Amino acid sequence: MGNTQESEFPIQLNLGPAIRQFFYSQLFITPRYPTHSFAGKTIIVTGSNVGLGLEAARHFYRLNAAKLILAVRTVSKGQAAKEDILKSVTARNDADAIEVWPLDQTSNQSTLEFCERVQKELPRLDAAVLNAGINTKEFRIVDDYEQVTQVNVLNTFLLALSLLPKLRDTKGEFPDETPHLTICY
Ligand SMILES: NC(=O)c1ccc[n+]([C@@H]2O[C@H](COP(=O)([O-])OP(=O)(O)OC[C@H]3O[C@@H](n4cnc5c(N)ncnc54)[C@H](OP(=O)(O)O)[C@@H]3O)[C@@H](O)[C@H]2O)c1
Repeated sequence: MGNTQESEFPIQLNLGPAIRQFFYSQLFITPRYPTHSFAGKTIIVTGSNVGLGLEAARHFYRLNAAKLILAVRTVSKGQAAKEDILKSVTARNDADAIEVWPLDQTSNQSTLEFCERVQKELPRLDAAVLNAGINTKEFRIVDDYEQVTQVNVLNTFLLALSLLPKLRDTKGEFPDETPHLTICY
């Protein structure tokens, strides 16, 4: 036995099929265009001033979310994103439905303040899309932790756990709804 015993879950690098799958999905697959209505729903998208977060936020607004919170670390960038969304979704003109709230996940205090504001000011929370994240090789300490761990892991999960009561309350108040928590990695 000893070394000849086979692992129960063998992990092998299968580069050929992985590369084929990557190019196939990039070149030939178009994700379905979302059509589900978010009428009446309150949605938070973190890191929504650019990239995937901005595009997700644009869809939520287009799909009639009643309240959309753009949670961003630079409010002026969030305001510019809001303008961009309003300009692109011509079927709606209720600018008040989109709010820009500050959230800096390098800071535990900012993350907790954001969650307190959610608890106090939002009457319901139907979906929280935790999209904010960084990808850098630069080593830096923020709030006593390495920055990528702090932003992508520690404060993402602090946010997730702190938003759970509001999501749970929403389920209690609207039993037919299913609040969602999404963590993007
Ligand atoms: N695109 C991909 O292929 C891919 C693949 C795997 C995973 N992901 C993950 O998906 C998410 C979005 O990707 P993306 O390509 O759209 O990224 P992106 O364009 O770099 O956007 C990241 C967002 O996170 C925000 N952010 C960064 N640090 C923050 C902080 N400390 N506090 C609050 N917000 C912060 C950024 O704000 P600023 O503009 O102010 O910096 C930006 O709005 C990320 O979490 C990424 O790790 C993406």
